[in-house]
Amino acid sequence: MTAPPATRPNLGVTALGTYVPERVVPNSDFEARMDTNADWIESRTGIRERRFAAPEQYTSDVGVLAVRDMLARDPGALKDVDAVICATVSPDALMPSTAALIAMQVGLTGAAAFDLSTACSGFVYGLSVAQGLILAGTARRVLVVGAEALSKIVDQNDRNTAILFGDGAGAAVVGPVPDGYGFQDFIMGADGNGGSSLYLRCVAPNLPGGFAMGDSVGMNGREVFKFAVRVLGDSGTQVLAKSGLSSADVDWVIPHQANVRIIEAAMERFGLPMTKTIVNLDRYGNTSSATVPLVLHEGVRDGRIKDGQQLLFIAFGGGLSWVAGTMKWWAGTPSLQPEQRQAAGVPG
Ligand code: COA
Repeated sequence: MTAPPATRPNLGVTALGTYVPERVVPNSDFEARMDTNADWIESRTGIRERRFAAPEQYTSDVGVLAVRDMLARDPGALKDVDAVICATVSPDALMPSTAALIAMQVGLTGAAAFDLSTACSGFVYGLSVAQGLILAGTARRVLVVGAEALSKIVDQNDRNTAILFGDGAGAAVVGPVPDGYGFQDFIMGADGNGGSSLYLRCVAPNLPGGFAMGDSVGMNGREVFKFAVRVLGDSGTQVLAKSGLSSADVDWVIPHQANVRIIEAAMERFGLPMTKTIVNLDRYGNTSSATVPLVLHEGVRDGRIKDGQQLLFIAFGGGLSWVAGTMKWWAGTPSLQPEQRQAAGVPG
């Protein structure tokens, strides 16, 4: 591990919460309205079902519920939070920011608030930006929310995209953690040349160069697949080297959840078995910026991710963008302790 400068505080995740909408949408639901079948979807992606937000539920709503989940287990989790970042590709509006709308509803009015637009890389990008804000002395603690209502921006009759995406949210507080814990390094990148592989029109009808976009998510699945396999392996390997680690040191790979075949290829590149990663896309599909906190929280809740373990985050998304990070897990606050331990009465 690269030794941090003596004055640099240890920073990491100090609280975590998640939310998925109630409505379960199985693969079979798509069979009626497009030329597809449930077995094709499961065998080519690993997805069996996903959650869709209610008609009146938008990204700020699911984001707020993820924060409230955190607060239910750790009422003091937002103390000293003076900045809010919402990573999202499905914001309620371009202005006000979804971050400001979430902040307002969780008692953080007055905190800095802004949205971060790197699609599925957004949550891990947000962790790194939060670390930077704290190290610069601009913020004491930062709330990072990855929240999506993708069902609202995906054409539900387009078999290229509709089958892949779901809705959900995760929220994490970034702040000081004890010595030996927390973030080690991040690698972030983007390449706008791949913009036409994954896109959604906003103000301009075309991308630079004239590529026409549409009013719902457009995607070249094969191009994204090839890109994803390459950048997950490359950026994961780079960030491990930056931290002085090898893949043998990694307890858990926490990957973006887009396609189980992409995760399998990344694990093969690291020389690690699938038992060293956590997959939940079978139940939630691709929730973009929410996948990483959903997977992380699942591993924490069920006791797989333990105090002091080495994590490797890897994600990719629209931009095209990528991000990888290393972190030693700290389980020191109520929202970060396995629920089964709490239920069994084991003190934290
Ligand atoms: N149902 C049934 N058949 C489908 C289908 C669907 N939803 N989508 C495509 N097909 C068909 C194709 O028409 C093609 O038929 P053909 O062989 O007769 O031409 C065949 O299945 C294979 O198509 P292909 O595009 O090569 O499939 P694939 O194995 O690459 O899987 C994706 C498609 C989209 C699942 C896959 O490319 C993928 O996951 N890409 C990454 C997408 C992603 O991660 N996006 C989000 C990034 S954050």
